[in-house]
Amino acid sequence: MKVEIATTKDDILQAIALRRDVLVKEFGYSQYQDEPDRYDLDATIYIIKENRRVIGTVRVRKDEGIHRIQRVAIDVKHRKTGVGSLLLQHTVNEHPQLYLLVPKETIPFYTNNGFHLTGETKKGKIHTYFRMQNF
Ligand SMILES: CC(C)(COP(=O)(O)OP(=O)(O)OC[C@H]1O[C@@H](n2cnc3c(N)ncnc32)[C@H](O)[C@@H]1OP(=O)(O)O)[C@@H](O)C(=O)NCCC(=O)NCCS
Repeated sequence: MKVEIATTKDDILQAIALRRDVLVKEFGYSQYQDEPDRYDLDATIYIIKENRRVIGTVRVRKDEGIHRIQRVAIDVKHRKTGVGSLLLQHTVNEHPQLYLLVPKETIPFYTNNGFHLTGETKKGKIHTYFRMQNF
């Protein structure tokens, strides 16, 4: 498996469809109107494909001078098989200093991958996110 940048229309649409399936429908983290959002225009969208289908995606963009990871989504059938770690490690290689906001459940995944907690923030009424960084 290799990590690629989504550049074709098909790859970008598949990555966004996966984000909708995982982050909106399955977990309710983001809203439909946010998916995609305007930041996708200047973000880098990384993907992993299997048999031409996108099974994992993450995007990176510069936010106030620091690279920020967002929209991490792994297809339900491919979780816990190393796809997320592969994507994350590739992203770290490309952008050595990164931060992101994560839900509580995924903190251990990022800790395993060299990130540590640096804060806590509330988004909307129900979601608390934890800020993590690797520098
Ligand atoms: C969280 C997520 C990105 C991890 O990707 P993944 O491909 O499943 O993870 P990997 O197989 O590379 O690594 C799994 C390791 O992280 C750990 N881990 C901790 N929390 C986890 C979680 N919520 N989901 C999956 N793995 C988790 C596992 O214990 C495992 O470690 P182990 O191999 O020592 O047991 C993925 O499961 C996912 O998309 N989840 C649903 C969407 C989501 O929560 N997105 C928000 C991300 S901020």
